[in-house]
Amino acid sequence: MITDIVILAAGQGTRMRSAKPKVLHTIAGKPMVEHVINQAQTIANSRIHLVVGHGAEQVQDALSGYELNFVTQTDQLGTGHAVAQALPHLTSGSRVLILYGDVPLTPAAVMIDMLEQVSSDNMSLLTVELADPQGYGRIVRTDGEISAIVEHKDASEAQRAIAEINTGIMAVSQQHLAQWLPALSCENAQGEYYLTDIIAMAANEGVSVVGRQPEFEQQVQGVNNRLQQAELERWHQLQLAENLMVNGASLADPNRIDIRGTLTTGNDCFIDFNTLFEGNVVLGNGVQVGPNCVLKNCTIADGTVIDANSIIDDSSVAENCLIGPFARLRPKTELQAGAKVGNFVETKKSVIGPGAKINHLTYIGDAEIGAKVNVGAGTITCNYDGINKFKTVVGAGAFIGSNSSLVAPITVGENAVIGAGSTITKNVDDAALSVARGRQISKANWNK
Ligand code: UD1
Ligand code: CA
Repeated sequence: MITDIVILAAGQGTRMRSAKPKVLHTIAGKPMVEHVINQAQTIANSRIHLVVGHGAEQVQDALSGYELNFVTQTDQLGTGHAVAQALPHLTSGSRVLILYGDVPLTPAAVMIDMLEQVSSDNMSLLTVELADPQGYGRIVRTDGEISAIVEHKDASEAQRAIAEINTGIMAVSQQHLAQWLPALSCENAQGEYYLTDIIAMAANEGVSVVGRQPEFEQQVQGVNNRLQQAELERWHQLQLAENLMVNGASLADPNRIDIRGTLTTGNDCFIDFNTLFEGNVVLGNGVQVGPNCVLKNCTIADGTVIDANSIIDDSSVAENCLIGPFARLRPKTELQAGAKVGNFVETKKSVIGPGAKINHLTYIGDAEIGAKVNVGAGTITCNYDGINKFKTVVGAGAFIGSNSSLVAPITVGENAVIGAGSTITKNVDDAALSVARGRQISKANWNK
């Protein structure tokens, strides 16, 4: 059966105090509405309709990579009005799931369970009991069955005492929606077309409203301001951290890790505090990540140790490497087995061979560094002449003396030795010694 998924995202989100539409504000580095879309996408035979209004263009641009049917709600006359805009786009006889673009963390399993309740006699509604139900629509039950939703502003004192609230998420047949939506009125405290009024219509027609509850309250939490956004972010991060630990990683502090993407860990990984993982990161077995590291789109193989304050971006690292502290691996760095990249070393678009050591204060860009090469402190590959980039090749076993400049394009042969402080502009043969620097002159009894 076809499922139509309607995501409401036309509201302004005034309380965010932002030039950016609310649904584009992020949780775990991803726009809230994208979290909703990603869960909805897993539902088979479905089509997603996104109701946009405030900041419609920005929302559409941000989501251009998705297959979505954008429905414009020019004036925001209420949630019922919003769904009514999507109604002509729904497949006749489909099941319809209604979601909010600012409720980012509802799992697909909850959505699927709700859709499974839908029939010509049933619809389903996601509700939750809150310690502070202030502001929400209250669930009115008659003989235990859901019979209406009363919005806070329209509720009596007795109704305001009800702790069970409407999350806004519901599943209902297209036929029922087509029948009920045109019957909504805006004669209420807010002068809006309330989607919630269809619950009483269902009850009046003998359509049962099956109530469902989330495992965690945060799964139905909407975000209205930046405080709620930060609270939900921390909850979500803690869930991700717990999942890592269940899968065999140790965390110094599960409250001080941030994952903005996907992090996969092998067995016995250790992740110290204040680490940030972005994009797709894979850690092999026994990898150790020191405090204050940032790892983005990278693969780190078994046994590698990354010391404090290191940054790795779009790079791959083989097994048993040693990185940092304070190292920066920029895009397209490849470290081969057992390589070392130490303090204040920056690499970019370079292959560092097995067992090579680049331990201190160095820049290696557009280079191929062979096996077991030793690069002395302060070495620079001069890869850029102001217009073009050139390559540096250093053969296996070579020794580059400290504070050398290798002016690319250049090749240093295998087992060659470069004297400290050299500026090397011509190729060096295998096993040769090259020294290229001014000679020291010392004059005795020099008078200032
Ligand atoms: C709504 C529910 C309330 C529920 C609460 C949960 C109604 C009438 N009330 O109230 O029962 O407890 O959500 O958070 O449904 N939107 C549009 N177009 C509009 C109006 C809203 O797209 O014309 C979107 C908003 O962008 C938002 C969602 O619908 O994503 C909910 O709107 P909001 O104004 O936050 O509803 P509440 O008044 O909080
Ligand atoms: Ca809201």
